[in-house]
Amino acid sequence: MTNLIERKKILSITAPVITILLTACNTSVIAAAPAPTKSNLVNVQQKSTKKIDKQLQNLIVKAQQPLKKLINKTVLLKGKRYSALKPLGPVPVPSDNPITAEKVALGKNLFFDGRLGGDTSTPCSACHIAETGWDFPNDISMGYPGTTHWRNSQTIVNSAYYGKLFWAGSSKSLESQAKGAAKGAVAGNGESDLMEARLALVPEYVTAFNNIFGDTWPKVGNAWKAIATFERTLVQRDTPIDKYLLGDKNALTTEQLKGKALFEGKAQCIACHNGAMVSDESFYNIGVPSNKRWETESLPQITFRYEMYGKGSNEKLYRNAKADPGVYFRGKLAEMKGKFRTPSLRYTKYTAPYMHNGTIKTLADVVDFYDRGGVAKDGRTTGYPQNKSKLIKPLGLTKQEKKQLLAFLDAFSAERIALTRPTLPAYKPLFSEKELLEAKK
Ligand code: HEC
Ligand code: HEC
Repeated sequence: MTNLIERKKILSITAPVITILLTACNTSVIAAAPAPTKSNLVNVQQKSTKKIDKQLQNLIVKAQQPLKKLINKTVLLKGKRYSALKPLGPVPVPSDNPITAEKVALGKNLFFDGRLGGDTSTPCSACHIAETGWDFPNDISMGYPGTTHWRNSQTIVNSAYYGKLFWAGSSKSLESQAKGAAKGAVAGNGESDLMEARLALVPEYVTAFNNIFGDTWPKVGNAWKAIATFERTLVQRDTPIDKYLLGDKNALTTEQLKGKALFEGKAQCIACHNGAMVSDESFYNIGVPSNKRWETESLPQITFRYEMYGKGSNEKLYRNAKADPGVYFRGKLAEMKGKFRTPSLRYTKYTAPYMHNGTIKTLADVVDFYDRGGVAKDGRTTGYPQNKSKLIKPLGLTKQEKKQLLAFLDAFSAERIALTRPTLPAYKPLFSEKELLEAKK
């Protein structure tokens, strides 16, 4: 009886959830689910007894290990000092979202769960595929049904270390990024209330959100916290370059050492790709030409125009832009057109094709692109040449030097990070039809 009164209270508080529940009761999915044996409100108080799997446990430990050695060197190149390459340190964790094993396990499930999205077909894992490079293997990422995306999907491996996320650096934390991705029209296209209602109908999630965040009902904002925490374990700190910088002089081959000297000298890569993340997180236009699909295919064309419009471009740009203006949208400064955040070179072994629009197929092609001075194979360069970085000019690398540089790029990646896909917990109605009728009395 007390249970029913409790439930009546909840019924009135969570009216939107219940409306959806009632509608959902008519659908076969919910109707077919077995009736709850015990009220979920009781289950909420139980602590999860599930063991966190070994793979995740390992990742959590590795991500947080302190660095054996601190390195604070600089590299001098043509009279300018740049931060030297450094081993990747322990993953940064915001004070209001500490890492716990249970949160990581929940975040992993949510990362693979399409119910955090619109029509449930686009979980994070649809565009950040673990088996490729935790990215999407095409030039332009797939998008929400009815669109393509408009940019290349980045790997989420090591993304926890960036201060600025996305190709144009427009998001500042993994928490807000996850929310943006799940709600964005060309990605998840989810609606917050609906996503929250879906979580509330999965008893396993109700229990987990209660244990981890103290939520009586899962709050969708905490879903982003859990996903961000999971992402903080997808880090790679044991690459050949990390080992080398920490003192293992055999970690790089002779060819790679020659490549390192080119990277920090003749090829000038260190001017932008430096520090522990091999990125200065600044914005440059390096000459990447536009993706021709904007002009030749309808869906990419629609998505591209939509993005122009959605980001508040003027009429002229909306109609005429042929190349991605990149950082320009943030602040609308003409000198930012065609500029993008320097990406990390870590894990790039697995993330082909390359650049914000995926127009460069392999790492060997990237090296050729830089050697030609930021010009593609077909002679094209950025749509905004007035903003092209002065650092990008023909390098005059010999065939052998290109091979050495390419070999060195390999040193930024270790083995693939592989995880078993989770079995997602099923929906269960909160109340039986009989209970709902009784509660209405
Ligand atoms: C439909 C495809 C799609 C879905 C779904 C999607 N992403 Fe992405 N993701 C992308 C693309 C494309 C980019 C690059 C977009 C840009 O920079 O404008 C990106 C960028 C990112 C980045 C930035 C990485 C960096 O280097 O700055 C993170 C982190 C990320 N996504 C996490 C997520 C999470 C978490 C989810 C689920 C809540 C998600 N994504 C869902 C396609 C997708
Ligand atoms: C002026 C700064 C700058 C210099 C110098 C520079 N890069 Fe880059 N690099 C960038 C930026 C910015 C991007 C992304 C550009 C885009 O997508 O339009 C990038 C992209 C890349 C990518 C693609 C990564 C991905 O995830 O798609 C690779 C690989 C790369 N650079 C390697 C190098 C190498 C090797 C050198 C030296 C030959 C070099 N870079 C020199 C700024 C620079």
